[in-house]
Amino acid sequence: MPDYKGSGANAGGYMSAVQYDLVLKGGTLVDPLGTARSNVRADLGIRDGKLAAVSDGIDPSCGGDVYDAAGLFILPGLIDAHVHFRDPGLTYKEDFGSGSAAAACGGITTVADMPNTLPPTAGTIELREKARAAGERSYTDFGLFALLTQDNLEETGGLIREGALGFKVFLGTSVGNIAAPPLGTLYGQMRRAGRRRIAFHAEDNELNEYFTRLCRGIPGNDPTLLARARPDISEAEAVARAIRLAEYTGAAIHICHVSARRSLALIREAKRRGLPVSAETCPQYLFLDSGDYPRLGTRMKVNPPVRGAEDREALWQGIAEGIIDMIATDHAPHTAEEKDRPLWEAPPGIAGVETSAPLMLTAVNRGRLSLNDYARIASLGPARVWGLYPQKGSAGINTDADFTIVDMNRTGVIRNAGLHSKHQTSPYDGFETTGAPVAALLRGCFIMKDGVLTGNAGFGRFVYPAQPEPADPVAAD
Ligand code: DOR
Ligand code: ZN
Ligand code: ZN
Repeated sequence: MPDYKGSGANAGGYMSAVQYDLVLKGGTLVDPLGTARSNVRADLGIRDGKLAAVSDGIDPSCGGDVYDAAGLFILPGLIDAHVHFRDPGLTYKEDFGSGSAAAACGGITTVADMPNTLPPTAGTIELREKARAAGERSYTDFGLFALLTQDNLEETGGLIREGALGFKVFLGTSVGNIAAPPLGTLYGQMRRAGRRRIAFHAEDNELNEYFTRLCRGIPGNDPTLLARARPDISEAEAVARAIRLAEYTGAAIHICHVSARRSLALIREAKRRGLPVSAETCPQYLFLDSGDYPRLGTRMKVNPPVRGAEDREALWQGIAEGIIDMIATDHAPHTAEEKDRPLWEAPPGIAGVETSAPLMLTAVNRGRLSLNDYARIASLGPARVWGLYPQKGSAGINTDADFTIVDMNRTGVIRNAGLHSKHQTSPYDGFETTGAPVAALLRGCFIMKDGVLTGNAGFGRFVYPAQPEPADPVAAD
């Protein structure tokens, strides 16, 4: 018998043996840490849900199925590590089925869901139940964040053992009105977090309250007030606090949805000092700016708010520099009726899980970033930060065969009517794109082809860091 294992060699005379379940033929494999010159034309052989071979010539007769990827680029499966699928409790806005279907149609193969559901994901029982229910409905693989609250200090270790991907803290309240733990409690939670990273919604509540009160006193309905009501000092203040906590507790932290130039500067400085700080930004901060408020109004209301063009430019710069580790969407759907309420009553949140990849690929075509940089921030980055690498985020032999196949020439127009979320409220309605995901593979199975959902609800699996690190039971405070 020939030795097939991971060799990638042409099977030669053994034409009758089906060596792979699927062969992706003739695509260009994108190297997340390289440049266009390090991308290789390759055939990918997939067996039992894993990548079995990368070769410059797999005999097509060795595949059960062959997908012609000529002219297309193959990225490790895209990960959106910040979504709100509203399940359980707020499923009139979204549920794990509709949210993950939208993700798959947008070329995303793994998501990480936030814990501000009803009930919040703050205890082991809630986490276990959420994982079970999501596992029945999800089209994509999924990780789950656990919430840190004022009264769940003792649950920290249990949440880690139950498979929490990481922890989430709302320093500033947002949808769900979840209060931050008192600093002492948070300190203790961070000491007990082991290798799990803590994600911060970094806005300062008191500053937001002060500025919001001022802005609400201004007559008229000028939507640019949404940005002035939660100014960048609020974000910078909270980012500085999170970084200081990381420094003193030793815990690794992650700054969600960075929206401001001045908080980016704090993160740059923290990284320079070698602190375990990672950061994400979202399409709304890269493709919109305060000049869009008159046109989009509350459709672009989000916490933290979309800011000025200088902030937007700084964030693109942060991606190029490697200060931004990942692009996530903060997919936060609400009904159209809710989003179209008056300025101060409309809930914050933009549904973006399905539109992120076409937008970002359009930016690649416009020369904003390279396709390699996109693979770095959309796949490798989140996989590394959240402990899923190399099963996710890589094209390593014997790792999960998750791939997003993109056509950089495919043109399209984002239309609300075509989106798969429960509610079609995208601020990008009418946006013309060049570059699109044309297929997504999860563990060797197509979950999307040509924008059509081809996977099954319940195929998605619960994922968590490869080496669950038990929290130190008597963590020295
Ligand atoms: O705009 C937001 N919406 N920001 C958040 O932090 C929460 C999110 C939501 O859950 O709707
Ligand atoms: Zn947030
Ligand atoms: Zn969020």
